[in-house]
Amino acid sequence: MSIDFKGKVAIVTGSGGGLGRTHALELAKRGCKVVVNDLGGSMDGSGGSSQAAQSVVAEIKAAGGDAIANGSSVSDKKGVENLVKETMAAYGRIDILINNAGILRDKSFKKMTLEDFELVVNVHLMGSVYCTAAVWPIMNEQNYGRIVMTTSPSGLYGNFGQANYGAAKLGVVGFMNTLKIEGQKTNIRINAIAPVAATRMTENLIPGAMLEKLGPELVTPGVVYLCSEDAPSGTILQAQGGQFSVATIVESPWVNLGDKVSVEAVAENWAKITDLTAAKPRGR
Ligand code: NAI
Repeated sequence: MSIDFKGKVAIVTGSGGGLGRTHALELAKRGCKVVVNDLGGSMDGSGGSSQAAQSVVAEIKAAGGDAIANGSSVSDKKGVENLVKETMAAYGRIDILINNAGILRDKSFKKMTLEDFELVVNVHLMGSVYCTAAVWPIMNEQNYGRIVMTTSPSGLYGNFGQANYGAAKLGVVGFMNTLKIEGQKTNIRINAIAPVAATRMTENLIPGAMLEKLGPELVTPGVVYLCSEDAPSGTILQAQGGQFSVATIVESPWVNLGDKVSVEAVAENWAKITDLTAAKPRGR
């Protein structure tokens, strides 16, 4: 089986480096026209230059692919409008959006300023919302769209120092859960990737020997599958070092306290209510 993207157009946000770069290169290698968006700032979201996006475009072109660069910030509504306008002017359609751009402002919640919180939410969650809102009418009109959100193990499970990031990263999953329902009629499928990879974001967090086994190119095949014709919808795909699995929310069987319902009855039945041995995802 071979999967190609001939005639398709993708926007990959934050693809001037790290995971976004390998997603953009793989799509381009498979015939997709790619818009390489990157603000080109530092990891905490300061600064910016279109250099990063331009160098990935040069890489794609050198390999015989088709790409253009865009330096907008995903957290700037006007910038996102331009990103979509430029894409439509260059290629006339948008089939794929990978919401990948991201920054970190790690601190324990005790020390975190609300500005650090808002900035991270604005890039990861609102940036994904702005880009998705801008392509949504186009994908609806085309009766075709594939969207990937980038979540994180920190959002799904928590991580010390990442209250802002975790909130934003689980926010994109909630966003996906509703869009998968609303996009069904017009063949828009929307999924999330929860990656672990060696990039500038993790180089100081993961030990060196492990980093060598966690190349971003080992996550990208999962993301590119989620952009394909046969993609599922509403899946959270976990990927690291060439290993893949699915994460989901499960619920334990309902315990009916009937006319005995009281605070004490909840306490007495706590072990039964929280017993996950027969837990299942909703609806299965
Ligand atoms: P990275 O720092 O190499 O890449 C992020 C890219 O986004 C950078 O090139 C940066 O310039 C760009 N960017 C930042 N703010 C932007 C904005 N406002 N507008 C446009 N571009 C912007 O980091 P990495 O690891 O490649 O991260 C990619 C995504 O994967 C992020 O959403 C990150 O949160 C997520 N992720 C990464 C993990 C990892 O293990 N590397 C783990 C879990 C999630």
